[in-house]
Amino acid sequence: MGISHRSQRRLNVFTSILFTTTAMSAAIHAPSSSEVGYHQVFARSTSEECLPYRDASLPVDDRVEDLIQRMTIDEKAGQLFHEILAQGPNGTLSNTTAKVVSGKLMTHFNLLGGIVNVRTTAQWYNRLQQLALDTRLGIPITLSSDPRHAFSNKAGSAIAANSFSQWPETLGLAALRDADLVEQFGNIARQEYLAVGIRSALHPQIDVATEPRWARISGTMGEDADLTAELAVGYIKGFTGEEGFGTQSVTTVSKHFPGSGPVEHGEDSHFTYGKNATYRGKNFEHHLIPFKAAIAAGTRQIMPYYSRPMGTKYEEVAAGFNKGLITDLLRGELGFDGIVVSDWGLITDAIIAGQDMPARAWGAENLTELQRAEKILNAGTDQFGGEQRPDLILELVKKGIVSEERIDVSVRRLLREKFLLGLFDNPFVDVDAAEKNVGKAEWVRLGFETQKKAYTLLTNNDDVLPLKADENAKFYIEGLNKTYLEERNLQVVETPAEADFALLRLQAPYVPRPGGFEANYHAGSLEYNATEKARQAAIYAAVPTIVDIYLDRPAIIPEIADAATALIANFGASSQAFLDVVFGVDGSRPLGKLPFDLPRSLAAVEANKEDVPFDTENPVFRYGDGLSYADDC
Ligand SMILES: *[C@@H]1O[C@H](CO)[C@@H](O)[C@H](O)[C@H]1NC(C)=O
Ligand SMILES: *[C@@H]1O[C@H](CO)[C@@H](O)[C@H](O)[C@H]1NC(C)=O
Ligand SMILES: *[C@@H]1O[C@H](CO)[C@@H](O)[C@H](O)[C@H]1NC(C)=O
Ligand SMILES: *[C@@H]1O[C@H](CO)[C@@H](O)[C@H](O)[C@H]1NC(C)=O
Ligand SMILES: *[C@@H]1O[C@H](CO)[C@@H](O)[C@H](O)[C@H]1NC(C)=O
Ligand SMILES: *[C@@H]1O[C@H](CO)[C@@H](O)[C@H](O)[C@H]1NC(C)=O
Repeated sequence: MGISHRSQRRLNVFTSILFTTTAMSAAIHAPSSSEVGYHQVFARSTSEECLPYRDASLPVDDRVEDLIQRMTIDEKAGQLFHEILAQGPNGTLSNTTAKVVSGKLMTHFNLLGGIVNVRTTAQWYNRLQQLALDTRLGIPITLSSDPRHAFSNKAGSAIAANSFSQWPETLGLAALRDADLVEQFGNIARQEYLAVGIRSALHPQIDVATEPRWARISGTMGEDADLTAELAVGYIKGFTGEEGFGTQSVTTVSKHFPGSGPVEHGEDSHFTYGKNATYRGKNFEHHLIPFKAAIAAGTRQIMPYYSRPMGTKYEEVAAGFNKGLITDLLRGELGFDGIVVSDWGLITDAIIAGQDMPARAWGAENLTELQRAEKILNAGTDQFGGEQRPDLILELVKKGIVSEERIDVSVRRLLREKFLLGLFDNPFVDVDAAEKNVGKAEWVRLGFETQKKAYTLLTNNDDVLPLKADENAKFYIEGLNKTYLEERNLQVVETPAEADFALLRLQAPYVPRPGGFEANYHAGSLEYNATEKARQAAIYAAVPTIVDIYLDRPAIIPEIADAATALIANFGASSQAFLDVVFGVDGSRPLGKLPFDLPRSLAAVEANKEDVPFDTENPVFRYGDGLSYADDC
């Protein structure tokens, strides 16, 4: 790329600031920060453009006040919405982007889908920022994301790592019981996020996993509230960075207040059949433990869940609508003064992945959309996730139902966050640096080592692991590609009968659900069905078998514990990580301890009180279980 091209790009940016026309911006490429920062260019522009909110030398509060008094109600309303946004092809803006950014004046978006090409994503991000800077006040975008550093790839809750360093799910971090490691993970994830412009983490998920059937356990830190609290602190520290909250931070959204572990019958509240959180054990307070720790550690934002609390002193309405929970408990008793962003889609019915998804207005189903928006604001919630309905805010204010002062309270919080993140002063990312830094070898290596360490050894008859197979040994395998064994000069055979060992990589049991969106949620029974149990039993009877089970939920697997030669659990691990651990390559060892109990039976699970930890009868394995290889001391 020649010098003339570089200066042309500078000029483009410069002119775009002087003459903010959409027509011109179409041709604009954002500069990389190594060339020239937006602020520098801006400082050289006309005095008329030197507005106080643009002046990085002024205190943030002054800048917020200057900006807010310039804003129309339309511009304020746009800030209150935080919507899903997809990239267009090859780093371009998708067709709907101008509609939400230039049309609805929205500036908060969560990035849908995987980041496969870092360069084009960074380019897309810069184009998105430019579009926002070309609006009247040039309020920059804040880009957010669900977790994207592990394996789980489920629309609406997690995205697979792709280009980023790949770690076990948070359950695997919990298996290692190491807050420093969690902080280190957070630090690395923060830098990878920063590189592509993601400045808001829609996590950590600090729900205490007290109901084993819940489909969202894999994103939690397990069944123990105190461990979750301890690790949440490391997590938030890592995403904040060593210098404290500022231009190098990713803001954290701790979720889902007030702790969504106690879902009735284990059903998730994305769905009509899972509306209720239930407290049969009168254990509501217990679920606040991680939130108290997260607030003390400086989490900037909190997300209430869809569930409505049943049988407590609070109104039986979804948390985002719930004044008792948000204003009285979270802001009042717990002293939280940050941003409250609702979970996605509380107002508007939608079709998600081809499936009808009614608004998650549980307990407020009969309210109109306008009444729902009013109730959410009156609850004390600042921002509407997964919605793009500034029209409702305009109507509420115009009709005098909600005051502009109330809107200002939330807009101030949201703007302040953008200023502190440095987005007004340096909205662009350096495309070359992004490409260089994301997925750095050292970070990828640490992620891989952590996948291995998080392995949790549950049985190991005759100390079969680490496996010392001779060179003629034959392996029957399931759940992994035979090329991985062949690369290690290991022989793969087609049937258990021919094999010396079987290596099975299993997914924890669940009952498949229909629908494009719902199918992502592993719910229902935690046992394999009779057919599958019989199929596995035949293998265990035929050949010494090492079972590796991916625990996204606490599986009920007494039969495997009894019949397999060894049983190890992973919380997200690659095939290479698995084989390294099985063969003890370079000292690879399972060091994990279970982050939850593994129940004995479905009857025991059904008798469990959803809000109470460690209460299924006679579990097969307990929280904290995890053996060591015999050659370890
Ligand atoms: C993507 O963009 C690059 C550079 O702008 C271009 O060279 C390439 O051909 C594009 N690829 C596709 C598939 O459009
Ligand atoms: C997006 O815009 C392109 C180019 O204008 C057009 O070809 C395409 O059909 C549009 N896609 C949608 C989903 O509107
Ligand atoms: C939730 O609780 C209410 C009140 O006990 C009950 O009527 C309802 O059936 C429960 N389940 C759902 C999905 O609403
Ligand atoms: C909502 O409306 C339905 C149908 O009109 C009614 O049966 C139900 O009782 C209403 N629910 C509430 C909570 O008012
Ligand atoms: C196994 O890996 C090879 C080589 O990477 C690939 O060509 C093949 O498609 C894979 N097989 C399956 C079933 O994924
Ligand atoms: C039993 O489980 C297996 C494996 O999970 C599945 O393929 C099969 O469809 C299930 N059978 C029944 C009858 O549910």
